Amino acid sequence: MNVTIRQERPSDYDEIRELVRKSFENAEFSDGDEHHLVDRLRATDAYVPELALVAENEKRLIGFILCTKITIENGENRYASLALAPVAVDPGFQNSGVGGKLINCMHEHAKKLGFSSIILLGHAEYYPRFGYKPAYTFDIKLPFEVPKENIMAIELSDGALKAIQGTVRYPEAFGI
Ligand SMILES: CC(C)(COP(=O)(O)OP(=O)(O)OC[C@H]1O[C@@H](n2cnc3c(N)ncnc32)[C@H](O)[C@@H]1OP(=O)(O)O)[C@@H](O)C(=O)NCCC(=O)NCCS
Repeated sequence: MNVTIRQERPSDYDEIRELVRKSFENAEFSDGDEHHLVDRLRATDAYVPELALVAENEKRLIGFILCTKITIENGENRYASLALAPVAVDPGFQNSGVGGKLINCMHEHAKKLGFSSIILLGHAEYYPRFGYKPAYTFDIKLPFEVPKENIMAIELSDGALKAIQGTVRYPEAFGI
């Protein structure tokens, strides 16, 4: 299957909204609002156009991934990081490597822009294959209660989170 990963364009927004809605329809962890979250995040300072990527197959969008800027806060200290949310693959194309391709490509784009870590909330069995570790191993917490094994973090450069501990602060658009 020929899959191209590229930055989203405004003309993709409607198709992305429908793709994300459909992908999360039967997902285990979903609030049914992920497609609206994407629209809200685009309107914030946390949005980085280069970190909104689509997977395209024969001119059709089959996957989407978004990273937005967050901070990890500890007292007076603020550290820049990224939140990965959401990643979505059209149900008809799942389990064929598209999600993996989007995630790996995102890591490369984020590194190029100088980001050194990504935090996410997701399936504990899926993300370790891409280098994610439980965030508690870095002493990084979310500002709400969730099973700790579902909070994950990746260092995009060696030791990037070594000296960083604290609680994630999300953009208001997350509604947290
Ligand atoms: C999760 C998702 C993005 C993965 O994308 P994908 O293209 O289907 O996954 P890939 O083809 O890259 O990887 C397939 C592998 O991941 C595993 N996998 C896929 N979804 C998984 C999940 N929800 N939990 C655990 N493992 C999962 C598959 O079992 C498969 O494992 P294998 O390689 O050992 O056989 C996609 O299934 C999806 O959009 N799901 C609905 C929305 C969602 O849940 N998003 C993530 C929120 S945390």
